[in-house]
Amino acid sequence: MEAIPQTYAEVRDAALACTMCRLSETRNNVVFGAGDPNARLMFVGEAPGKNEDLQGVPFVGAAGRLLDELLAGIGLARDDVYIANVLKCRPPGNRDPKPDEIDSCKGYLRSQIRMISPEVVVTLGNFATKLLVPTEIGITRMRGQRITSWWLGATLVPTFHPAAALRGRPSVRQDMEQDFTIVKELLDAGR
Ligand code: URA
Repeated sequence: MEAIPQTYAEVRDAALACTMCRLSETRNNVVFGAGDPNARLMFVGEAPGKNEDLQGVPFVGAAGRLLDELLAGIGLARDDVYIANVLKCRPPGNRDPKPDEIDSCKGYLRSQIRMISPEVVVTLGNFATKLLVPTEIGITRMRGQRITSWWLGATLVPTFHPAAALRGRPSVRQDMEQDFTIVKELLDAGR
């Protein structure tokens, strides 16, 4: 029987070699995650896009630049946080993740959350939020809440996906800025 991956490096190596779903056939790179593995704050996005797939790093495109700006607004940089996605491989054409792809991949995210053990988890958009908070409620109503998750051992703050702010109403960015101030409050209170 194969050993179950235990350490961060073992889980990452297992993900890098993963062929559990069809996305392994079309990916260029597995995008496992990036940042400080001891971070107090972790972000969970949806899935790698084109640039992320080419570079193997999450949030390197336009959505990533917005994420950097929102982080800077609360005095943080990318190196201070950890960033992962629900899916580690790019869905072709950036289509939505399929339920069986999420099922195949969710163990990696579960291991990441367990190992990083963040105090605050920010879910970016509907896919990350619905995976970590069993709810039918959409992100527009979920955003900005402080959800205590005993199984994550963290407070979860859902917000919009940065891509929604890039293509949507200007108020989406303002809402995200507000949600990031909640994150800062939580981090300041936990010190
Ligand atoms: N969108 C995501 O959800 N994740 C990325 O890594 C990039 C864009």
